[in-house]
Amino acid sequence: MSGSSRHLLQIRGSHPDAIRRLLASARDCSALMGDELAGTTIANLFFEDSTRTRVSFTVAAQRLGASVVDLSGKGSSVSKGESLTDTARTVEAMGVGALVVRCAQSGGAGLIANAVSCAVINAGDGRHEHPTQALTDALTLARATGRESDFDFSGLRIAIVGDCAASRVARSNIACLTAMGAEVVCCGPPSMAPGSLESLGCAVSRDMDEVVGSVDAVMMLRIQFERSSSIGSPREYRDRYGLTRERGERMRPGAWVMHPGPMNRGLEIDGEVADGDRSLVLRQVESGPSVRMAALLSCVKACRESCTSAG
Ligand code: CP
Repeated sequence: MSGSSRHLLQIRGSHPDAIRRLLASARDCSALMGDELAGTTIANLFFEDSTRTRVSFTVAAQRLGASVVDLSGKGSSVSKGESLTDTARTVEAMGVGALVVRCAQSGGAGLIANAVSCAVINAGDGRHEHPTQALTDALTLARATGRESDFDFSGLRIAIVGDCAASRVARSNIACLTAMGAEVVCCGPPSMAPGSLESLGCAVSRDMDEVVGSVDAVMMLRIQFERSSSIGSPREYRDRYGLTRERGERMRPGAWVMHPGPMNRGLEIDGEVADGDRSLVLRQVESGPSVRMAALLSCVKACRESCTSAG
């Protein structure tokens, strides 16, 4: 991602200024209801299930005056064996301005970006990245901690807990939060929070009780059962790594609880904590449309500019 990229595929490797620009644009989009993308069609290509991301991209596109078409794996020619890139090129040929892609293949959004001329936004590709979720989380955290003017997260310590290895949300959040200056610690059993995560710029801990009392926000992750994540006994997992009511009570005063959703209540997070005073879960959802508006605006405008300069 750069300031003028027609694609948003990942946060990792992005310049902090480019992330800040998108966050500032998202902040300013909150009250926007315009026609910036009137006449543009956005295609949601969702080959994996979604509620939050898909709906918020649709809401975002509509708030910008764009029209939206939806395609999913089931009910499209993907179910007959058509490849991701053939599907994307087919939809693009109908005059679509941007493709919003969710797929099970890590790197799938990048493959599509290499095959088309329109803008491509990664809405979650396998275990790779989910960049607009991380931007949504960063905007929410900035609002909650009074850092919405400069998005400087220096001095914040954030825990990401659970199935980090399988999580595209974790990968995008580690990149985004550390670029904004936060300290990040991933916590979980070795299979889910391997020491190799340290190469991404975060710390790794096995001690949820120590972590929970020493951070400014705890970001819980869903166990990715559909990606073959195994937790052994659910009760033991909850006892060791769950954000239980008791652990929630041991958090620092003013510390926040986050979860990108969907949640496994009673497993990685207790319902009382998910719905409690510290919870930002619904505020994360609220931030979604304005972040997706900023992403669509940035990528579609960059795409138009590159088409114009190419003559
Ligand atoms: N957080 C997230 O990506 O949720 P959905 O799968 O519902 O889009």
